[in-house]
Amino acid sequence: MPVPASVQWKDGRLPVDRSFSVALTGKVDERLRNYVFRVERRLEGRTVFEFSREPATDSSKASLLIETSSTGNAIPRLGDDESYTLEISDAQAKLTAPTTVGAMRGLETLLQLLAGDKAGFYFPAVSISDSPRFPWRGLMIDSARHFQPVEVIKRNLDAMAAVKLNVLHWHLTEDQGFRVETKKLPELYQMGSDGDYYTQDQIREIIAYAADRGIRVMPEFDMPGHATSWVVSHPEIASGPGPYKIERQPGIFDPTLDPTNEKTYKLLEVFFREMSQLFPDAYMHIGGDENEGKQWTANPKIRAFMKEKGFKANHELQTYFNTRILKFLQKDGKIMMGWDEIFQPSLPKDVVIHSWRGQKALADAARQGYSGVLSNGYYIDLMYPASQHYVVDPIAADTTLTAEEQKRVLGGEATMWSEWVSPETIDSRIWPRTAAIAERLWSPREVNQVDDMYRRLSIISGQLEELGLTHKRNQDVLLRRLAQNGNISDLKLLVSLIEPVKEYRRYQQRPQSMLSPLTGLVDAAQADAAGARQFNQLVAGMLADRNSPKNFDAVRSLLDQWRRSAKSLGTLMESSPGLFEAKQFANDLDDLGAIGLEALSFIESKSKPPSGWHDEKVAALKAIAKPKAALELQVVASIKSMVDAAGNN
Ligand code: ACM
Repeated sequence: MPVPASVQWKDGRLPVDRSFSVALTGKVDERLRNYVFRVERRLEGRTVFEFSREPATDSSKASLLIETSSTGNAIPRLGDDESYTLEISDAQAKLTAPTTVGAMRGLETLLQLLAGDKAGFYFPAVSISDSPRFPWRGLMIDSARHFQPVEVIKRNLDAMAAVKLNVLHWHLTEDQGFRVETKKLPELYQMGSDGDYYTQDQIREIIAYAADRGIRVMPEFDMPGHATSWVVSHPEIASGPGPYKIERQPGIFDPTLDPTNEKTYKLLEVFFREMSQLFPDAYMHIGGDENEGKQWTANPKIRAFMKEKGFKANHELQTYFNTRILKFLQKDGKIMMGWDEIFQPSLPKDVVIHSWRGQKALADAARQGYSGVLSNGYYIDLMYPASQHYVVDPIAADTTLTAEEQKRVLGGEATMWSEWVSPETIDSRIWPRTAAIAERLWSPREVNQVDDMYRRLSIISGQLEELGLTHKRNQDVLLRRLAQNGNISDLKLLVSLIEPVKEYRRYQQRPQSMLSPLTGLVDAAQADAAGARQFNQLVAGMLADRNSPKNFDAVRSLLDQWRRSAKSLGTLMESSPGLFEAKQFANDLDDLGAIGLEALSFIESKSKPPSGWHDEKVAALKAIAKPKAALELQVVASIKSMVDAAGNN
């Protein structure tokens, strides 16, 4: 995962034992040597073999022969050749790539191919020829709402490389925090960050770490809105009167940079000059989203400026602002990128549109000659299941874009907005779902079978743990804390059946601020409740084939288990204050189990329930379906389908 562009399985296998060796030929750089070193260590970890550290002397005898014809760019660039071919036979695995980055992508594929059975570990014989469908395959991490330390970013870069993502879009300034050191304007991070910011050395360290994995790092400095943290230290460049404080709430806020004030541009010119030198990537994201212009409309000086310039609407003033910023970026050799809202036909054609509002905006931009990247549909903070993101394609199946226009659709980015993620939970919001998005962006459009995606996603999710990702194991850490270090097996069952509420309902139902602990049950629950998925599939299968005792037994066994767990879960929740808010779930689980078992017995015996039974159960299910503690059970619809089936007997 992602599925390669072309795979042909062959007969045979290449055994992997302690004699496993690697030889490198062609143009080999330090990045490739280091990558191979890490791959060997991962392979050792999985196989529990210690390989020789001596380089293979005879390349024809090496288990893995890697041939790269050039090193490519040491700092990755958009459009770098990431292709590779991988030929595995009984005698050898041969990885051929035109660049170091192509070899990295192929090495990740190779690692995913490792299998083991009673004869030992092996790579299956195969012939793979692979290259990405889109050149821009990103993950945006918002380090501003909740600061994410260097080690969090690094392990996520490792995971990105494992699924062939190639852009870290780093959202560094927001209302809630200014997260980058500037030597020229130190007051910005000193007053705007609570001390949680990246030093320039750390930024360089991350950029180098990403480059070593074939990943670009593009910073985002969101303006003119989402800018409260800027004006904490520089109220004179705000569009309304200060003073300002770092924002602690989620949402859209009024503080906006003043586009009519020359001081704003003086400061931004200095800032962008410094950032352009710090970040080597050609692209610089200026945000531009969700500027409601309230301060502009309220400020007579700004209104007078607009009148003088003949601007009728705030977005014209924002375009004026963007055009001035663009000049700074161009002088520093950068290409400007921004969210949909920056899109105005007066901008030069190399500006990249980042669409968060829809695929159509991207298509419109492409038609008018602009390149774009899709994030609408890839908002992983909204807590939708992987299946929902997976079916979103940057180019609609029925697109009317010409081939040339389609090329302007550069790809997409998963967006990890961080209002409700801490360093402890962020991995579990990004992974494994982002691997499904990575596949959408790399693999051919035709790779789109949801069940097979989930089968592979579960394997990849486990493999990501090897890299230090905490998306699986931290759930237990959170649950143990909530359970006061008591037994969590029943709590785990519950958590496998519930998901956080979707979209922005979490805050509506359970308000918190940026200073709140993210250690509740809602933080432990994940977007793809695995137990619910399994149960729902079993019920669908049972209802489709009502003559299979095996199907009935499988569903019955799970319902019995829920009822057993509900009893001890109730006891645990009653005595764990951190779980009080979710106490009702213990009753719900018991009731769901009971209703399900009743329905099952009617369906199995093909007998009619007493009159009134169906409506009574449907009403009970409706109450159970209501969210509690910003969480909702994901199995109620299946129980309802059983109740309906029983009612129709
Ligand atoms: C955004 O979600 N406001 C880009």
